[in-house]
Amino acid sequence: MQSVPFHLAGRPAEGPDPLIVRQPYDGREVARTSYADPDQVEAAIVAAAAVADRAAALPAYVRAEALDHVSRRLAERAEEVARLIGAESGKPIRWARVEVSRAVSVFRWAAEEARRFSGDLQRLDTEPAGQGRLALVRRVPRGPVLGITPFNFPLNLVAHKVAPALAVGAPIVVKPAPKTPLSALLLGELLAEVTEPDGPGTGLPVGMFSVLPVPDDRAADLVADPRLPVVSFTGSGPVGTAIRRAAPDKHVTLELGGNAAAVICSDWSSDADLRWAAERIATFGNYQAGQSCIAVQRVFVHEWLYDGFLPRLVAAVEALRTGDPADEATEVGPLINEAAARRVESWVDEAVTAGATIEVGGRRSGTSFAPTVLTAVPPESRVSTEEVFGPVLVVARVADDIAAFDAVNNSAYGLQVGVFTHSLQTAFAAHRGLRVGGVIVGDVPSYRADQMPYGGVKGSGVGREGVRSAMDDYTEPRVLVLSGVDL
Ligand code: SIN
Repeated sequence: MQSVPFHLAGRPAEGPDPLIVRQPYDGREVARTSYADPDQVEAAIVAAAAVADRAAALPAYVRAEALDHVSRRLAERAEEVARLIGAESGKPIRWARVEVSRAVSVFRWAAEEARRFSGDLQRLDTEPAGQGRLALVRRVPRGPVLGITPFNFPLNLVAHKVAPALAVGAPIVVKPAPKTPLSALLLGELLAEVTEPDGPGTGLPVGMFSVLPVPDDRAADLVADPRLPVVSFTGSGPVGTAIRRAAPDKHVTLELGGNAAAVICSDWSSDADLRWAAERIATFGNYQAGQSCIAVQRVFVHEWLYDGFLPRLVAAVEALRTGDPADEATEVGPLINEAAARRVESWVDEAVTAGATIEVGGRRSGTSFAPTVLTAVPPESRVSTEEVFGPVLVVARVADDIAAFDAVNNSAYGLQVGVFTHSLQTAFAAHRGLRVGGVIVGDVPSYRADQMPYGGVKGSGVGREGVRSAMDDYTEPRVLVLSGVDL
């Protein structure tokens, strides 16, 4: 099988050590690429640092056209890209298609933001000392960005780092997850199409981006490198914490995990309400086999609705179709590897030993874990307190909406929460009282529009993604004060 090149400073390259990518469902080889060696990593960083000033000065139309190009090409190659995502990550094809269409919109949105990213005018004549003065506040790139991306959205979470960087004119070095590098490499291929296509001075300059597979145990060198002053990481809590400690002087954005909750409030009581909530929670507790930071994990149900809701949820979970991710009918595929499936199994076993009841599921087969609903889970069980990152729902009864919000807040994490209510009062109470990055009313916490600020509090991270938010993160304000201005 021919090796897929990676992208070093915008040009294809190969490293000495092979990286074989396997389909998590059946272990078959999907493709092979290679790891960048330390000299190649160094070359990428040198190129990013060397081009930073030129990149920052690129006209908006050049950045916007490059971003539009990637959006268009992803749309043209959508089915091929979706199959690639499915093959490397085990994501069911229906979800892989959604991921591609989201990435198309991330690049399109970034192109639009690049065109409007102008800064603010601030009048200074609010005090006598400022009379005749005017401030122009523009945002300038902090410098080259290091993007470290996870396996669960191998295209779109790379898009969320690359597109805002290009939109503000910051070079970026991407280290994709070694389990799923292929979609990121394909993105590199599309960016290469607009890298000096007609020679120097056209399109993106060489050095503006690199996509380099690097083993996780060599990531620390990248994180520590002072020539990459911005680190944007999406992944696990322990790694995120280690990055923050290792780079106290850098601008670090962390999108970490969560144990996202859904709350069924007392007014969400009609037949149609309960059916909708059950179907949405069943689907979004198990999409991508639960491997999303905002997959539903904890479900808090008002006690007078509990007995009506639980059987509907169990039926909806039982009805989910599991199996080969390439099959059009499959809704739930495998976990990323057998170690991940075994970990989920051990956490479920631990909860059951402590007194939990399995309402449905609870079985592992190779890399797959059956969609599972647990009740009577002791509060200190890891399936409740930690991020399961697997197809497991923990359902609990609560006395009222306040008790439900307290239970949501009783977590080391705070990413997003879904609040099923029709009441505006309750929606605002949730927004006021829940310590999370986002409250989704009338739906699951898994809802994400890619232009929204996205990120968490507490153990769920620092900073926000969502195109414009990341653009703010990758830049800092620089003020220009004009004197002698007759306003
Ligand atoms: C994540 O797992 O943090 C990303 C979720 C999403 O983009 O839908």
